[in-house]
Amino acid sequence: MNENIAKSRRLPRAVEVRKVGAHANYWYAVRLSSNLKAGEIQDVRFWEESIALFRGEDGIARAVENRCAHRQLALTTGVVQGENITCQYHGWEYNGCGRCVSMDHELGKNRKKLPKITIRSYPVKERYGLIWIFPGDPEEAEKVEIPKVPELEGEKPWPVAPIEIEIDAHFSMIVENVCDFNHAFLHRRKQPFTQPVLNKYWREDETVHVIYDTSFHNSPLAQLFAEKKELDQIHLWYQYPYQGSNIGGRYLHWLFMLPESAEKTRCFFLFLFGPIQFPGTDIGLPNFIKKPFLEVANQLYIRPLLAEDKMALEAEQIGFAKHQDKPFYELNPIIPEFQNLTIERWKDWAQRDNP
Ligand code: FES
Ligand SMILES: [Fe+2]
Repeated sequence: MNENIAKSRRLPRAVEVRKVGAHANYWYAVRLSSNLKAGEIQDVRFWEESIALFRGEDGIARAVENRCAHRQLALTTGVVQGENITCQYHGWEYNGCGRCVSMDHELGKNRKKLPKITIRSYPVKERYGLIWIFPGDPEEAEKVEIPKVPELEGEKPWPVAPIEIEIDAHFSMIVENVCDFNHAFLHRRKQPFTQPVLNKYWREDETVHVIYDTSFHNSPLAQLFAEKKELDQIHLWYQYPYQGSNIGGRYLHWLFMLPESAEKTRCFFLFLFGPIQFPGTDIGLPNFIKKPFLEVANQLYIRPLLAEDKMALEAEQIGFAKHQDKPFYELNPIIPEFQNLTIERWKDWAQRDNP
């Protein structure tokens, strides 16, 4: 590990950042809660580590490493029995703590007690309609918070229609895509923001903040929501390893990334829209209509917009693989800030056992 870090120090920052892994001592969103039914098992990846995520028949999601301690079969080929996951082959049954609690065969000649066999388990939480896993040091899990989204808490949480997409690109590229408005050209037909001007940026602990001046109230999305206010600034942030934005406290988003490998990232976008009026009127939408309305907005506008970003990012990953030995010219001063943060956090994780 130390040797790799020493080697990577000699790389230009724009290359090094595409090779670093993700700090594991954070909560990572891995699936939409609605996509894991009771009795179902899914193979979740965190930086190529395969994890068997399953929902017990009691409705609780649990996660264990994706291998049976007997012959190393993937447990994702197994079945859920009650609150446990059972290997398909000889029926070894593991609980949510990774402890083998039963076997579907005799225990061995003269053995009466089940031997003590354990595989790794992972802390799991469900919040904001997402399932979160803590892939790092389990004793750190309770000290680390899932980012707080007050709009989704309390008695009147804002309606939200999450979008999940997988992008074949390193997670650092995705941060640079979402926070860097210099790519307005890519969206020139959909115009989510126009003529953005970088106003300021600053670093605060593990967060890089960015303010852009841009006229959001003219965008098709604001028109769809019958936005009347002059909204001409957006605050974006890269709060490692998460990303978010806020336009006037009325339109927000969070992006929770799951780095599955160096070239694949699963993205969970939560777009939060405070005021929604019937298009062309001052009449607010009643709550029960808001969610279907957001789903229509996702289909008509936001998903096609994100598809443009996905196309560009996957092309960037291919370009990087081919041409990483060539010089990278970067004009936006916020990009090195993002890259430094990503590299720093990775070094913090990679060096913790190798000071
Ligand atoms: S390989 Fe899993 S029970 Fe035998
Ligand atoms: Fe974009």
